[in-house]
Amino acid sequence: MGKVLVLDHPLIQHKLTYIRDKNTGTKEFRELVDEVAMLMAFEITRDLPLLDKTIDTPVMEANTKVLAGKKIGLIPILRAGLGMLDGMLKLIPAARVGHVGLYRDPETLKTVEYFVKLPLDINERELIVIDPMLATGGSACDAIQALKKRGAKQIRFMCLIAAPEGVEKLKEEHPDVDIYIAALDEKLDEHAYIIPGLGDAGDRLYGTK
Ligand code: PRP
Ligand code: URA
Repeated sequence: MGKVLVLDHPLIQHKLTYIRDKNTGTKEFRELVDEVAMLMAFEITRDLPLLDKTIDTPVMEANTKVLAGKKIGLIPILRAGLGMLDGMLKLIPAARVGHVGLYRDPETLKTVEYFVKLPLDINERELIVIDPMLATGGSACDAIQALKKRGAKQIRFMCLIAAPEGVEKLKEEHPDVDIYIAALDEKLDEHAYIIPGLGDAGDRLYGTK
C-alpha cells in the first residue's frame, strides 16, 4: 500500500495560510505556490539514491556522496499543476517534464483528457505527478491511469491540499502510488470543492473566471 505523507514543515504551513487567504492576489499566490512546491520537492527527494565518491578537499582525501542520477519525470496536470512545476525544477533541474491535460466537467464532475505529451522513456523514470488539489480524486486517478497505460511503472503524486475523499479514492485505485500532501483538509462541499481549501487553484493562479 502506498504511503500518505503530510509535509507539514512550519515554512510550508505558514505559506499555505497565505495561499488559502482569499485576499491574496494572483502575483503573490503564484509566488507562494512556487515556493511551497520547492519546499515539498526537498522532502520528496529525501530518498534519492546516492553513490560513494572520493574527492580531494584542500586538506585531504574525503569519502563523500553524490546523487546516483536516478531518472526523474515531472508530470504537471494541466493547467493548475503548471503552477508548481518551476518550484520543483529549481531543486530537480535535470528532470524531464511530461504534460497531462485534464479538466473536471463542472456538471458531471467527470474528467476529460485533452492533451498527453510524455518523455519517451517514462517506463524507466520515477514520475512525480503534480497538481495543487486532490478533491474527488478523479483527475489524479485518471492522470495516473493515462501514465500507466503508456508504460509508467514508478509514480508518486504530490499536491498542496487534499480532501480525505480524494486520498481514499487514490489509495484504492492506485495502491502503488505514494501521496505527498502539504495539508489534509476536512471534506468536500456539495460542488466537490475542498473545504476550507483555497478555492479554484487554476483560476487563482492565472487570474481567470
Ligand atoms: C482542478 C485541480 C485538479 C482537479 C481536482 O483542476 O487542479 O486537477 O480540479 O479535482 P478532482 O480531484 O475532483 O478531480 P480543474 O479541473 O479545475 O482544471 P484546471 O487546472 O484547468 O483549472
Ligand atoms: N479543484 C480546485 O481547484 N479546487 C477545489 O477545491 C477542488 C477542485
